[in-house]
Amino acid sequence: MEEKVMIFDTTLRDGEQVPGCQLNTVEKLQIARALEELGVDVIEAGFPISSPGDFNSVIEISKVVSEPVICALTRAVKKDIEVAAEALQYAKRKRIHTGIGTSPFHIKNKIRTTPEEILRRAADAVKYARKFVEDVEFYAEDAGRSENEFLARVIEAVINAGATVVNIPDTTGYCLPEEYGAKIRYLKENVPNIDRAVISTHCHNDLGMATANTIMGVINGARQVEVTINGIGERAGNTSLEEVAMIIKSHHDLKLRTDIKSKNIFSTSRLVSTLMSMPVQPNKAIVGRNAFAHSSGIHQDGVLKDRENYEIIDPVEVGVKESSIILTARSGRAALNHRLEMLGYTPGKEELDEIYHRFLLLADKKKEINDEDIKILMGEVAQGEKSLKLDLLQVTCGKSAIPVATVGILINGEVHTATSSGNGPIDAAFSAVRQLISRTVHLEEFLIQAITRGSDDIGKVHIQIEHEEKTYYGFGTNTDIVTASVEAFIDAISKIK
Ligand code: KIV
Ligand code: ZN
Repeated sequence: MEEKVMIFDTTLRDGEQVPGCQLNTVEKLQIARALEELGVDVIEAGFPISSPGDFNSVIEISKVVSEPVICALTRAVKKDIEVAAEALQYAKRKRIHTGIGTSPFHIKNKIRTTPEEILRRAADAVKYARKFVEDVEFYAEDAGRSENEFLARVIEAVINAGATVVNIPDTTGYCLPEEYGAKIRYLKENVPNIDRAVISTHCHNDLGMATANTIMGVINGARQVEVTINGIGERAGNTSLEEVAMIIKSHHDLKLRTDIKSKNIFSTSRLVSTLMSMPVQPNKAIVGRNAFAHSSGIHQDGVLKDRENYEIIDPVEVGVKESSIILTARSGRAALNHRLEMLGYTPGKEELDEIYHRFLLLADKKKEINDEDIKILMGEVAQGEKSLKLDLLQVTCGKSAIPVATVGILINGEVHTATSSGNGPIDAAFSAVRQLISRTVHLEEFLIQAITRGSDDIGKVHIQIEHEEKTYYGFGTNTDIVTASVEAFIDAISKIK
């Protein structure tokens, strides 16, 4: 039988403390609705005493969210607790989250008091909060660096005072997974009344161990995890919701479950990222752009044979449509053929060899080959050999330099070259081309476009020329726009009958 781990989402409180990522109430409501849809158990909606904005957000979120518990943060201060209770007045299910520092650092250097005073203030805060709500969570700030014996005394006292959940934050992200797990186990084994409360983890990612620490906490008896979408939060962030949810879902051996509807993970991730203007790093587990992308030939071949060769999660499970095969210079024929088939092409073996050859030439110049590039490659292959073909192009240009171009064209199997200057590299190259052809042509239209984006992108050139009152069209593509332009020009000329 699987035991449930409760998901306490603090994207709107600890997550929102990221500099420059503050949200207005409307945006917070959008996220709160998405979190409810996602299936979180608790939404920490804000720290009401901290600002009128936070106070209002807690009020408004309380009005629209019906399933999850709405939680408001306070310090162990009466006024904070009163304001939190007021902000939670409309919540169907409400919780006050109060607490105080318990580490020697915090006691001595931040709060500047004694351990005995901390014990008293912790218990008093919980007792006071219980006057307003039934559900009170206590946090022992900097528990990660607190002495286990003292921490156990505080936890026992706050449970006696009425705490329903006890939160053991690794506030500075210092603990090793073993150490954090042992801390939770110590509390389980040494706090006499621990069965009357749920133990919660709250890990920060300063050393990149937030998820590992959270999982060790759960393995050792915690049944609530405090997490944020995309792992956002103070400094290096909090534990990320999607990682913990998918670890619990994937590892049946843990015999645990959450109520997260995993198919909503990706859309929620993107909503938070967009509203907070906080891009998700491409290699972020579960929700990064590359989390289900395969780029090496060996992996692509393996994934095409059976996705599970290189994927432990089906991307559909987290709301990503499908795994992606990124076509690069390291891709093999199998991956290229797969993409061609997806685009509706069914090349025979010889044609595939030819396309693959052109594909590699392009991939050497451009990091990633997209569907547009492939369509262009297919167009080139379909056209076959041309009577005129660019063989050589060399240009000199730049600030204070006179643009000069040397062009070599293969005309009926023989290379002819010419050199010319112009008012820019394209003008110089076109002038050299004109020297090599025996026809008078007028350039009527010339259009350069980048196909997608980025300085490494392919440039696409459309040209319209006129010869003896007839119009001819030319088309060229290359990562080098001068080459693309000359190819388009030659393409148009070669169509003159
Ligand atoms: O990291 C921390 O200790 C916190 C508490 C306020 C719960 O965010
Ligand atoms: Zn925190």
